[in-house]
Amino acid sequence: MSYDIKAEILRLKKEKKAVLLAHFYEDGEIQDLADHVGDSFHLAKMGQASQADVILLAGVVFMAESVKILNPTKKVLVPDLGAGCSLVDEAPYEDYLRWRTEHPDGIAVTYINSSAEVKAISDVIVTSSNAKQIVSAIPADRPVLFGPDKNLGRYLSKELNRPFELWPGSCQVHVLFSARRLFEMTNEHSDAVVIAHPECDSSVLQYAHVIGSTSRLLEEVEKNPARKFIVATETGIFHQMKKKRPDAEILQAPTGDVSCACNDCPYMKMNTLEKIRRALETLSPEVVLTDELRLRAQVSLDRMMAITRGQAVTWPEKFISPS
Ligand code: 13P
Ligand code: SF4
Repeated sequence: MSYDIKAEILRLKKEKKAVLLAHFYEDGEIQDLADHVGDSFHLAKMGQASQADVILLAGVVFMAESVKILNPTKKVLVPDLGAGCSLVDEAPYEDYLRWRTEHPDGIAVTYINSSAEVKAISDVIVTSSNAKQIVSAIPADRPVLFGPDKNLGRYLSKELNRPFELWPGSCQVHVLFSARRLFEMTNEHSDAVVIAHPECDSSVLQYAHVIGSTSRLLEEVEKNPARKFIVATETGIFHQMKKKRPDAEILQAPTGDVSCACNDCPYMKMNTLEKIRRALETLSPEVVLTDELRLRAQVSLDRMMAITRGQAVTWPEKFISPS
C-alpha cells in the first residue's frame, strides 16, 4: 500500500492534540486538511480561541507570531520559519522606531503584516478586513501614522477621507499586477467583475469593482451572480473560489511580465504537506517570543480585538520610546 501523507497528517493532528490553521494563499491540498481556513484576521481569532495543545499555522510567520501573542500558553508551530513577508522586511524595527519618535502625537496604526517588535511600538494593529472600523475608532484630531503597506494605507486614507502619514512598504506579490494589461483585459472581458486586494497599487485598484480582504473577495465570488471574475490577489484563493462557484470563470489579473501569469507568494508557498507532517511529528519549528516582547506587542493586538468587538478603548496621549 502506498504511503498516504494526508492520512498521516490527520493521524498526527489527533495524536498531538493539534489544530491546523491555513491561510487562503496556501496550496489547496493544505487548505483541505486544515481545521480552519481564512484571512489573517480570522486566523488570529481562531488561534486566540483555540483550546488545542498545539496550534500549527500554515501561513507566514507574522501570522503565527500574532497567535502566540494572543494565546501564549499554547505551543505555536509553523511548517517553515523562513516563511516571511516583504512587508515585514521593509519595516525594520530601528527605522520604524525612528519614524514613530518623529511623530510622537500620532497614533501608529500598523498592519498585521509586521514583526512582533514593530507591533510592540504600535498603538493598534489592523488587517485588511477590519482596518476601516479600527481607523474610524481613532479620534479625528489625532494624526494617523500608517505602515508598513503604503497601498493599503493610501486606499484607506481615500476611503475614510482622512490624511495618513504613510510608511513606504509594499507587498512584493500584489505590486506585480499591471494596470495597463488589466485595463486591456477588462475590455476583452467586459462581462467580468474585477475584484482586488487593497495591497495592489492604486493604478490597479482604479479598475476594481470590489476591493477587500481575501475573505471579502471570496464572499463576492460566492454571492455575486456574475459568471466571470478577474481576481487581483494571490492564486491560492482560487481553490476556495472554484469550490464556491464551480459555474463561474475565475481569471487571474495580469502581471507586467507577459511570460509569467503566476502571482504566487513565495513565502506562503514554502509550506508543503511534508513540512506540515514533520512539524506535527517533531513539534517544531516553534514560534518563540520573550515574555517582555510578547506582552508589549499584545497591547496593540488587544486594541484591535477590542474595537472589533465593539468595545471602547483608550489611546496614549504621546508615544514613549522604550528605553
Ligand atoms: P488577508 O488578511 O486579506 O488575508 O491578507 C493577508 C495577506 O498577507 C495578503 O497578502
Ligand atoms: Fe506578505 Fe505579500 Fe506574501 Fe501577503 S502576499 S504574505 S503581504 S509577501
